Amino acid sequence: MQDFPTPRELKTEEISLVIEEYKQATKNALDSGFDGVEFHAASGYLPMQFLSSNSNLRTDQYGGSVANRLRFVIEALEAMSSVAGADKIGVRIWPGTEFNDMHDANPVETYTELTKALNSLQLAYLHIVGFSLPDNLAYKLAREHYHGIIMANGGFNFETGQAMLNAGLADMISYATLYLANPDLVERFKRNGPYNQADTSTFYTPGAKGYIDYPTL
Ligand SMILES: Cc1cc2nc3c(=O)[nH]c(=O)nc-3n(C[C@H](O)[C@H](O)[C@H](O)COP(=O)(O)O)c2cc1C
Repeated sequence: MQDFPTPRELKTEEISLVIEEYKQATKNALDSGFDGVEFHAASGYLPMQFLSSNSNLRTDQYGGSVANRLRFVIEALEAMSSVAGADKIGVRIWPGTEFNDMHDANPVETYTELTKALNSLQLAYLHIVGFSLPDNLAYKLAREHYHGIIMANGGFNFETGQAMLNAGLADMISYATLYLANPDLVERFKRNGPYNQADTSTFYTPGAKGYIDYPTL
């Protein structure tokens, strides 16, 4: 961990410049050969700081009401879609998380309104980290209000992921820890395992160890 300056609120006129940076970054990624770009509106990063009621204390059109708190995310996604095509853009959200000091007074309301607002953008997918709200509520809300592809993330293995698909709560599952520890995860899924266990002591550490040295079958 390094020392860091205390963040300050963006001035209203700076916001369009930041959105322009997302647009440029999207263009750079596609020019570099990536197939698409996921907009990270989770984990307490800047877009989520606009969404969350505890961090967004703004009094301009980007703060206050739920509609205003969503504005940055929607405008950034529109800008990214304008250079890439919306079918090349996904968005990742984590309703109800307290990670990185986030807190929303009413995550159900915030994320219901967000998922509704995302519909008109016609993005490639909505990626949801769903384990911070009970009983699959994050996925159920999204299914009710969002009409596009839903990708579920957070703590799934093959069986629980399959159960989500069978229950109609998601169209795709993303795997992080399991894939990190099993570079041939698809093959292991096909063979019903066995699986390497992830070594958590190497998470978030520099160097190759714990990232590219897990054995294949
Ligand atoms: C080593 C490691 C690094 C991660 N880094 C990030 C990150 O930089 N940004 C992020 O949003 N999530 C990050 N995650 C979280 C994963 O994207 C995922 O949401 C989480 O691990 C839950 O999914 P899982 O149960 O399939 O692992 C990381 C996870 C691991 C294990």
